[in-house]
Amino acid sequence: MTYQNFSLKRLQEMDAAHHLHPFTDHRDLRAAGSRIITRADGPFIYDSEGNEILDGMAGLWCVNVGYGRDELAEAAYAQLKELPFYNSFFRCTTPTPVLLAERLAAIAPDGVNQVFYGSSGSEANDTALRLVRHYWALEGNPQKRIVISRNWAYHGSTITGASLGGMAAMHGQLNGPVPDIRHVMPPYAFELAEQGESDEAFGLRAAKAVEDAILEAGAENVAAFIGEPVMGAGGVKIAPDSYWPEIQRICRKHDVLLMLDEVITGYGRTGQWFAAQTFGLEPDTITTAKALTSGYQPLSALLVGDRIASTLVDKGGEFFHGYTYSGHPVACAVALANLDIIEREGLIERVREETGPYLNKALKEALSGHGIVGEVRSIGLMGAIEIVRDKESRERFSNAGSAGVAVRDHAIANGMMLRAVGDTMILSPPLIWTKETIDMACERIGKALDLAEAGLRKAG
Ligand SMILES: Cc1ncc(COP(=O)(O)O)c(C=O)c1O
Repeated sequence: MTYQNFSLKRLQEMDAAHHLHPFTDHRDLRAAGSRIITRADGPFIYDSEGNEILDGMAGLWCVNVGYGRDELAEAAYAQLKELPFYNSFFRCTTPTPVLLAERLAAIAPDGVNQVFYGSSGSEANDTALRLVRHYWALEGNPQKRIVISRNWAYHGSTITGASLGGMAAMHGQLNGPVPDIRHVMPPYAFELAEQGESDEAFGLRAAKAVEDAILEAGAENVAAFIGEPVMGAGGVKIAPDSYWPEIQRICRKHDVLLMLDEVITGYGRTGQWFAAQTFGLEPDTITTAKALTSGYQPLSALLVGDRIASTLVDKGGEFFHGYTYSGHPVACAVALANLDIIEREGLIERVREETGPYLNKALKEALSGHGIVGEVRSIGLMGAIEIVRDKESRERFSNAGSAGVAVRDHAIANGMMLRAVGDTMILSPPLIWTKETIDMACERIGKALDLAEAGLRKAG
């Protein structure tokens, strides 16, 4: 039976009756009814009414090679027929996770050569936290357990992910986070820089907050610092240039491991395979998922640096951790085909040399002068637009978040899928976007801003 046998209304009724969506106020959803996306092609998604929408979010930060790739469907089909599943426990494995691990080691930053698989970014961060603490225990420093993270960080939605993350609303529902995780200010100059403070000075101050937290806890008790190289779900917060080199220096000085969460930035988004390479960092772990398969299959890979891996191998004994679907053969087959496409089509070079710089320029030229835009920023193919009532003072509209929702709703109605994080609009499109697609996006976003401004100013 296929969904075409059902009317939109009936699908919405069944959805409301039985389907609890992620990150959703279920009463609101039931009142409004869900939007049902039925197909997609290239950079566009289509809803059940046949509306074509330019997907500015690559699904959910993942569909880097765009939609409708037969090659990925065929890779999955071939693997499903040959061997749909076998596990990687009990000294077994299947070929595709092996091939993929070797491939990932080749593209990862120097000194990162091992892979631990899961199905989601949240699972991979669970693996990362366990591995890092296990590492210090094996090294004879079991008290080195504290992890420093940042407010507004997003590291997933399992209890570990939400604890590592810095989302206050999620913490509120945790009923007790994983212990020994501390949060400091993020490098978010738009809201946190002081009057007259340069970007450079602000970046150093935000990094110093990490060092202060290490000193307060006692470096002998701190296992790691974890951060997204560019904070994604928290609102595409891009650190000033001074921030990451200073974080690397601080971690080295205090012998604190550097855990990068590249679930969004991995696989090309910032114009290198990994943002660690964009920023010249030497991480001990790199959490990846999403664009590893361009979302065509659920798969995550925690990339593990040599320092941790050699201790695990030499001193570890059994590491009591893993998932049924660690190294799922079909997901790994799709990942291999996906990396082929990224490489063959030169998508990363295109982001680095052409579309990334063009997006930056186009956002500035087309949108930064708009009456309700306080700032535009981007790196590679991810960007943000800050919505404000007053451009000069950066005062927001009252009722936080309502301006973001207004812009988003007008954008979608005008064929542009954008996401709002509070009053920050965020953009993270497929890497197949061209200059023409970027122009189309800017035009549609501009229209949404005009319509939203009219409504917001009228509402006061
Ligand atoms: C940086 C980051 N880490 C972890 C996750 C969690 O990934 P998943 O939703 O696959 O569990 C996300 C999801 O958006 C993310 O953006």
